[in-house]
Amino acid sequence: MSTLSTDTDLITELNQHGALSLGTWAFGGNQWGGEQSDADSFASMATAVEAGLTHFDTAGGYGGGHSEKLIGEFLRSDPAAKSKVFVASKVFPKPNADAEFAYNGVCKSLERMGLDQIDLYYLHWPRNDMDLREPLKGLERAREEGLIRYVGVSNFNVEQLEQGLEVSRIEAHQFCYNLIWRLPEQAVLPFCQHHGIASVTYSSIAQGVLTGKFGASPAFQEGDARAKTVIFEPEVWPKVHAAIEQLKGVAKDACRPLTHLAIRWVAAQQGVNSVLVGARNVDQVAANAAAAAGDIDPNVFARMTAISDQLAADLPAVTNLWRNEF
Ligand SMILES: NC(=O)c1ccc[n+]([C@@H]2O[C@H](COP(=O)([O-])OP(=O)(O)OC[C@H]3O[C@@H](n4cnc5c(N)ncnc54)[C@H](OP(=O)(O)O)[C@@H]3O)[C@@H](O)[C@H]2O)c1
Repeated sequence: MSTLSTDTDLITELNQHGALSLGTWAFGGNQWGGEQSDADSFASMATAVEAGLTHFDTAGGYGGGHSEKLIGEFLRSDPAAKSKVFVASKVFPKPNADAEFAYNGVCKSLERMGLDQIDLYYLHWPRNDMDLREPLKGLERAREEGLIRYVGVSNFNVEQLEQGLEVSRIEAHQFCYNLIWRLPEQAVLPFCQHHGIASVTYSSIAQGVLTGKFGASPAFQEGDARAKTVIFEPEVWPKVHAAIEQLKGVAKDACRPLTHLAIRWVAAQQGVNSVLVGARNVDQVAANAAAAAGDIDPNVFARMTAISDQLAADLPAVTNLWRNEF
């Protein structure tokens, strides 16, 4: 658990860990297609800490807890890293999840990671069929007992955030936000800013799309969750692909990889406090960490925003990448 900060609010503490954070969904090994070796995941974590990426994000649901287990093993194997790393995890609510369910989620995460305390713990996804105040009461209890330090939520809309705030001091909201997916700007991001809730973005490089590596006809290995997103729907992908080609032109002019520009664009948006980027190996971690270096001309961001604006106007009006309505 991080010992960087003693008595600060979460936004200050996230700042201390830098804008870029390590996402570890792929470490779970079962939802990204292809093999994910534990050795690669371990090496990725070591490289991340060396490069100053000391906020790790995981969840009880990533590989049925496998990602959490690996993080725990890594931190136990390296006490110096353990003292630096800020750990965030999540529990995915089952239908009608109550306070006890969420509290037990924390206990199970602690057990899997072999930790006494988790820095930040999120309710992973809201459900429309339940009172969200109940599981949040369970996370509040975990905070009062010192099992977690901060309570967060993820993928909430404004009404759900308001409901949660009735019973919980929500300090972080994690949501999908990138050059392709701008929905949070409409209400959620301003709401979080207004209420002093830290905004943590996920899929910040659109699950790899904003590296520019997917061609006109992308193919996925079996079991890769990305294939089912709105972005790759047959009528949507050609528009996204065309925008990526335009963004590549901006990156060429700026003499920076598109990945760097995409990460820095998210980090530069008002109200964003932490940019999660997932990685599967050392090379990806190193490439992403290098995004932090150097200045980027505001005109570069302006060109990117203009391309993104045009694309956003053309995308289907759905509330999340997977069209999920729980
Ligand atoms: N709260 C939630 O509901 C929620 C949802 C999704 C994610 N998250 C969190 O946010 C984190 C980040 O989001 P994400 O993983 O969905 O998407 P992302 O960070 O936009 O993309 C990560 C993926 O892109 C590819 N990639 C990363 N760096 C690369 C590079 N330099 N060059 C080429 N490819 C690269 C890797 O997959 P390949 O090598 O397979 O292409 C990697 O797994 C997750 O790991 C997780 O911790 C939370």
